[in-house]
Amino acid sequence: MGDLEALKAGYLDQVASAGDEAALEAVRVAALGKKGEISLKMRDLGKMSPEERKSAGAALNAVKDAIADAIAQKKDAMADAALDERLKGEWLDITLSPRPVQPPMAGGTLHPISQVTEEVIAIFADLGFAVKEGPQIEADFYNFDALNIPAEHPARQEHDTFYMAPKADGTRHVLRTHTSPVQIRTLEKEGAPTRFIAPGRVYRSDYDQTHTPMFHQVEGMVIDKDISMANLKWVLEEFCRAFFEVEAVELRFRASHFPFTEPSAEVDIRCSWEGGQLKIGEGDGWLEILGSGMVHPKVLAACGVDPQIWQGFAFGVGIDRIAMLKYGIPDLRAFFDADLRWLRHYGFAALDMPSVAAGLSR
Ligand code: PHE
Repeated sequence: MGDLEALKAGYLDQVASAGDEAALEAVRVAALGKKGEISLKMRDLGKMSPEERKSAGAALNAVKDAIADAIAQKKDAMADAALDERLKGEWLDITLSPRPVQPPMAGGTLHPISQVTEEVIAIFADLGFAVKEGPQIEADFYNFDALNIPAEHPARQEHDTFYMAPKADGTRHVLRTHTSPVQIRTLEKEGAPTRFIAPGRVYRSDYDQTHTPMFHQVEGMVIDKDISMANLKWVLEEFCRAFFEVEAVELRFRASHFPFTEPSAEVDIRCSWEGGQLKIGEGDGWLEILGSGMVHPKVLAACGVDPQIWQGFAFGVGIDRIAMLKYGIPDLRAFFDADLRWLRHYGFAALDMPSVAAGLSR
C-alpha cells in the first residue's frame, strides 16, 4: 500500500500548490474525475477477490476522501482570499476627520432684512397666507394704471418713480414703487378668493435717515365673500403682537388715501423713545408702519374679479421700518452700506430659522 500513500501525498502536494481554481480543477479531474487515477484504481477493485477488495477498497476510499477534502478546503480558502481581496479594493473611509470648532458667527450672518422677512413670512404662514412674488422691473400698467392710478394722477408724483427708457411702442417700465402690483398679478392669474403676502424690494428716488432709494415692503391681501375692516384690524394687530413680541400692542388707524383702497387707513403703533430706547406698546409716541384699506372695486374689476360678490383688504408694510423698530437700528441708510462691522453687530446667526412656535428672534 506504500504506493497508495505516495499517490495521496503527490496529489495533496498538487492541491496545496494549485494557484487558482482552474489548477485545482485540473488536479481534481486528474485524481477523481471519471478517468482520473483514483477512479481507475476503483474500477480495478472489481477484478480482485472479495478479501482483497475489502481492504484495498477501504484504503482507496480513504485516499479518495482525503484528496476530496483537501480540494474542498483549498476551494474555501481561495474563495475567502478572493473576498478579502475584493473588500480591500472596495474599502471606504467613512470616518469624519475632526474640524476645528468655529464660533457660530464666524462664517457670516443673516442681514436683518432677511431675518425680518423670514419672521414676517412665518407669522403670516401661521395665519394661512401664501407667499407670492412679482418682478422688480414692472410694467407701468401694473405699478399704476391697474391700481387705479391713471397717467395724470397726483399719486404718481408722490412715488418718486425711477423710469426705464420707453419702448418703441411708447410703453415704459418702472422700478416698482411698491409691492401692490403683485395684488394685480396674483388676482389676474388666480382670481378670488385669495389670501397672500408678497415681500420684496421696491424703489423710490429718495434718500435721508429714514429713506433709501431701494427698500422693502410686504404686501398683504385677503379677498373673500365676507371680509371687512374688522378682519383687517384683527390681522394687523395679530401680526404686530407676534412680530414685536409684545402682548399689549396698540395700533392707531388714521384715515388716509390710496387710489387702490377705499376706505384707506395708515396705521401707527404706540411706542416710547425714552432714554434713546424704543419700547413698543407704551408711551405717548406713534410711529407709522403701514398703509392699508379695503380694496377698491375698480381694482377688483380690472382683474376680472366681480366686486358685487367679492371684497377684501390689502396692506403694505415697510419691512425696513419694522426692522429698525424691532431691533433698534437708528439709521436706515446703514442697512445697505455693506459695512462688515455693522453686519456683524446687527446680523443674525444663519441657521436660526424664525418660527412662530420656536420663537422669532432668539
Ligand atoms: N402701496 C402702498 C404704498 O406703498 C401701501 C398700501 C398697500 C396701501 C396696500 C394700501 C393697500 O404706500
